[in-house]
Amino acid sequence: MDAIRHHSFGPPKVLTLERVPDPVPGPGEVLVDAVAHGVHLLDASLRRGEAGPPLPLPALPTVPGREIAGTVTAVGPGIDASWVGQRVAAHLGRVPDGGGYARRVAVAAGQLHAIPDRPDGTPLEPADAIAMIGTGRMAVYTLDIAAVTAADVVVVTAAAGGLGTLFVQEALNAGARVVALAGGSAKLRILQELLPDALRDSGPDAPHGARSVDVADPLPRPARLALVDYTAPDWIDAARRALAGSPATLVLDGVGGDLGTAATALLGGRGSTAGEPADGEPADGTGPGGVGDPGGVGRTGSAPARLVAYGWASGAPNRYTSWAGAEQIESAVEVRYAVGPDAPPMPDQRPYQERALARAASGRWRVVTHRVPFADAARAHRELEERRTTGKVVLV
Ligand SMILES: NC(=O)c1ccc[n+]([C@@H]2O[C@H](COP(=O)([O-])OP(=O)(O)OC[C@H]3O[C@@H](n4cnc5c(N)ncnc54)[C@H](OP(=O)(O)O)[C@@H]3O)[C@@H](O)[C@H]2O)c1
Repeated sequence: MDAIRHHSFGPPKVLTLERVPDPVPGPGEVLVDAVAHGVHLLDASLRRGEAGPPLPLPALPTVPGREIAGTVTAVGPGIDASWVGQRVAAHLGRVPDGGGYARRVAVAAGQLHAIPDRPDGTPLEPADAIAMIGTGRMAVYTLDIAAVTAADVVVVTAAAGGLGTLFVQEALNAGARVVALAGGSAKLRILQELLPDALRDSGPDAPHGARSVDVADPLPRPARLALVDYTAPDWIDAARRALAGSPATLVLDGVGGDLGTAATALLGGRGSTAGEPADGEPADGTGPGGVGDPGGVGRTGSAPARLVAYGWASGAPNRYTSWAGAEQIESAVEVRYAVGPDAPPMPDQRPYQERALARAASGRWRVVTHRVPFADAARAHRELEERRTTGKVVLV
């Protein structure tokens, strides 16, 4: 069978397409002919030879990847033959050498999920299903921690990414208003195409669909989504304009570093009502949240100001996260973790995977994928590391 392996740690080109022996399903396992393989930033770190939480380096040579979707073609001892022919998706476990970049994978039957059908009876595509197994699972978990409500004004970093596209959709589903930050106009266009209704002013004076928001414009009341390109030098001013004078109440940050830290400074204080100054901030709008317009777009209720940190794609932590060993954010803001030593451990992961698959199958989440031919795994890694992907990266 075909597999992507690397024999040394290094740049993306160490990933090569090779012929390797077919696996044989053991007791309790099935054989899956895989057609979609999830690619993760963690795969790239391990390929570079950077161990660290949560995984140690794999022994070489190794077949990376921990997320596959395809069809069961054989079963091992003790497994019901009725599995054969079923479309499935599986997470291969929190291991450094998952073997997921392979066209055939032996998987414990207990790790399988049948790929659900959509309401019209057609099955969810394997690439969309695999986006739900790791990334969708993490999105559900993080959203549970964030507890978004209609009172929230939410800032999302890397908003066009695998997790970001799901966060933006779910925050809007919860009735919140959202400022989506992403690197470049092409990424913002993906969100524009995905969520046109949220960008429209649908108020009584402007019938539904009457106007869409230009990038970095203030959220026009009552449009619920604004898009800001944070590669622009003045992006933080654009984000403040988009907030139209209100502080954000929730920052969902997986980028960390200077970007995540600057985005976090858009928060108001603990317990502040959106539209009110943060604790200790001057009331004239000169505070870090740019507060000051009492008629700001966020005046939809009261929500505690909080940062939910779920990663550091930039390579550096958000300076407001205590596990980074840096300053704790001012006491006015609550910090919650979805990754890192202070994060509550995800209990059984299966329910989170099921909830994510159900959301995608029902259409509640529209899944964005960046599909790359299987043989071009090196390109997929390069594009992910160079921030040139939108949505979940999947080898097909
Ligand atoms: N997917 C999961 O299952 C999962 C689980 C746990 C934690 N996380 C963490 O969540 C964050 C987002 O993960 P994701 O899988 O959804 O990835 P992603 O957002 O699809 O891709 C990463 C994005 O992060 C942004 N970024 C900023 N600086 C970057 C840099 N130096 N190198 C690469 N990317 C950079 C880029 O978007 P912009 O150009 O828009 O900034 C890039 O497109 C990551 O920190 C990841 O480690 C993910």
